[in-house]
Amino acid sequence: MNWIRSSAALGRVVVRLGAAVLLVALSIGLLGASASASPTVPQPQSIKKDLFGTTPAGEKVFRYTLTNSRGMQVKIITYGGIIQSIEVPDRQGHKANVALGFATLKDYVERNPYFGCITGRYANRIALGRFTLDGVTYQLAINNDPNSLHGGNKGFDKYVWRATEVRGDSSVGLKLSRVSPDGEENYPGRLTVDVTYTLTNKNELRMDYHATVTRKATIVNLTNHTYFNLAGEGTGSILDHELRLNAKRYTPVDATLIPTGEIPRVAGTPLDFTKPVAIGARIRDSFPQLVIGRGYDHNFVLDRKSRDDTSLILAARVREPTSGRILEILTTEPGIQFYSGNFLDGTLVGTSGKMYRQGDGFALETQHYPDSPNHADFPSTVLRPGQVYQTTTIYKFSTDENHN
Ligand code: BGC
Repeated sequence: MNWIRSSAALGRVVVRLGAAVLLVALSIGLLGASASASPTVPQPQSIKKDLFGTTPAGEKVFRYTLTNSRGMQVKIITYGGIIQSIEVPDRQGHKANVALGFATLKDYVERNPYFGCITGRYANRIALGRFTLDGVTYQLAINNDPNSLHGGNKGFDKYVWRATEVRGDSSVGLKLSRVSPDGEENYPGRLTVDVTYTLTNKNELRMDYHATVTRKATIVNLTNHTYFNLAGEGTGSILDHELRLNAKRYTPVDATLIPTGEIPRVAGTPLDFTKPVAIGARIRDSFPQLVIGRGYDHNFVLDRKSRDDTSLILAARVREPTSGRILEILTTEPGIQFYSGNFLDGTLVGTSGKMYRQGDGFALETQHYPDSPNHADFPSTVLRPGQVYQTTTIYKFSTDENHN
């Protein structure tokens, strides 16, 4: 009897075990299938929203996850319009996050060196934080001694933006909006700004910037400040990435990183990226401009047909040889700031728990030239009531075996 009962129980255990083994095997099979799924198998596009945190002032910050039909994923938070992560496949189809960032809102609020954010009202530096417009001299905050950097003490990167989801046939997106009041950070004019991020099914992240001003004329220079590492954030240095810039000229800087006003050729200098070169190949040259910047921290003047040419052109192409990932940047802007992460110093711990050291990420910020308000011969950054500020930049991802 006992034996019969226990053998029946044993039978049940065996059946259950068998079912469990089958389930595990099935799920391993399924997981295996999804892990090795070809990046071209279409997946549903989606926009997911979750609470990312609350600012010290009590504002809720949301994170939007955009996923396209190829499984590329971009995470954007409403604080600073920050791109927290960009997951793209390598040449084998393995995805990694190629944008430097933080895991928590607290880190973004307390110590962000502009990772992923929208920089404004004026991206990059204004000499001594001073400019004159329509006969009035404005004094901005000196937050990068002796200059003003990226919009001052509380630039666009430190505000919570209003978000609207945007769904297209072959894209998903997020429109971020805010009004910067007249006098904010001492900039004149009330500026209404929209930045729309669109993730297309061609693995492009498109950014459309739109602004208008009322009351007074102002100056505007908006960009996105993502730091990239195409091998994956937290994997080490970007010095082996190959860079090509569509720029025969650049704007050299003085010791405080303000343009001197000259626009010389890059030919014959370590700033010549007109053909693909590893970022690290010449970064330690004692060329004075590199010494000043502690590496690359320069605005490159994009090759354009004419001064008023604002067509969307290829500005930069970066390839990471190990993963084969390629980033191409297209823009309507006249310049691009190439910054080789010189001020990362091991004091920040990134999204996946790895510490960032000098040169662990690079930024390519499409923009008007730094300090344009103080250089009459640079393309103008003045926006007047009735005019529309409209620029577009695209980050396009591919690999060297899957380039289209
Ligand atoms: C500037 C760097 C600055 C960095 C801050 C770049 O746009 O060119 O000089 O250190 O932003 O993260």
